[in-house]
Amino acid sequence: MNITEIATPAYVIDEQKLLDNLKILSDIAKESGAKILLAQKAFSAYSTYPLIAEYLQGATASGLYEARLAYEEMIKPFEGKKKLENHVFEPAFKDEEFPLVCEVADHIVFNSIAQLEHHRNVWEKAAAKKLLSVGLRINPEFSTQEGHEIYDPCAPGSRLGIRKENLPNPLPSGVEGLHFHTLCEQGFEPLEATFKEVEQDFGEFFAQIKWINLGGGHHITKTDYDREGLKELIRYIKEKYNLEVYLEPGEAIALDAGYLVTEVMDIVETENYPVLILDTSAACHMPDVLEMPYRPPLKDSGLCDEKEYTYRLSSRTCLAGDVIGDYSFDKEIKIGDRLIFEDMAIYSMVKNNTFNGMPLPDIDIMHKDGSVEVIKKFSYEDFKSRL
Ligand SMILES: Cc1ncc(COP(=O)(O)O)c(C=O)c1O
Repeated sequence: MNITEIATPAYVIDEQKLLDNLKILSDIAKESGAKILLAQKAFSAYSTYPLIAEYLQGATASGLYEARLAYEEMIKPFEGKKKLENHVFEPAFKDEEFPLVCEVADHIVFNSIAQLEHHRNVWEKAAAKKLLSVGLRINPEFSTQEGHEIYDPCAPGSRLGIRKENLPNPLPSGVEGLHFHTLCEQGFEPLEATFKEVEQDFGEFFAQIKWINLGGGHHITKTDYDREGLKELIRYIKEKYNLEVYLEPGEAIALDAGYLVTEVMDIVETENYPVLILDTSAACHMPDVLEMPYRPPLKDSGLCDEKEYTYRLSSRTCLAGDVIGDYSFDKEIKIGDRLIFEDMAIYSMVKNNTFNGMPLPDIDIMHKDGSVEVIKKFSYEDFKSRL
């Protein structure tokens, strides 16, 4: 089966492009000595974990479920072959979940001193039996992004990370690392500027820790990313402070490595552009389009009015605003035509929902030879079982 023959809607993971990204990241890890982890919040299609595990050093999780997924699908299957790490950060861990978090994780990062102390008994006991490293998330109070406040952990009033004035010196016993995550889809320069700030404000703690985690948001696999700069910074941190350096990108791992294939079901004439009713939905299948918001790239299309035929791309849900955007084409679009949204591997499958009882798209994988294999199909039961 090739991509023109598959059932729609479907997310199609592009194995070759995933591999291209993984090779870039693996080279950075090798040449700088950093450890690079998959941030599963962006991409958790675990059928690809064996491939990812060959190139990266592990995974990071936003809570118990992602941590468990990495443990079951990445860490365990590689036991005896490669030591992979399982990290987790959550603003607050639930008491009933925390013992299991300790069982599956190697690194646990707390968001406050209160959380660290609240769970101390449990993590100390776990650390006595296995390798478990505990860290604290700091907030450098240094924003480097504009316009996306919901993605800025340094925005005023943020709940994410301990501010310098609240970090005790010496650090509480057992704390072995510091973690910061402040970027979103950014180049090297904002990371460099942020690290300088962290070094200035938190540098006094570096002699007390073993590792520093620089979070995610690094667009390392974009062609214009300054990878040499990144490697230099990592080497500098390792050499000057003798720290293990972690990066936990999500987007960079599966950037441009997937599609959402959809079919035109109807065309509604309006006083503006004709509207294509697709068998996919921004609200259900690509929520970041509305949340961020952003315009997803679409194969063989142009901006509004750039090409001869312009349409508004929308969906079959009831939400008037479930609009993906206005796109133009060289040829007239017909009912039954297929459209291919690009860069749809990240923050798509992990965020979709069944609002309106919309079926979830299949998850497919396009192998290196172009053949497409169906990994997962969903049904009415997936909708019903959650309600
Ligand atoms: C703590 C943490 N680490 C890593 C990431 C991954 O970020 P990205 O997918 O932008 O690389 C995020 C994203 O929100 C995050 O909150």
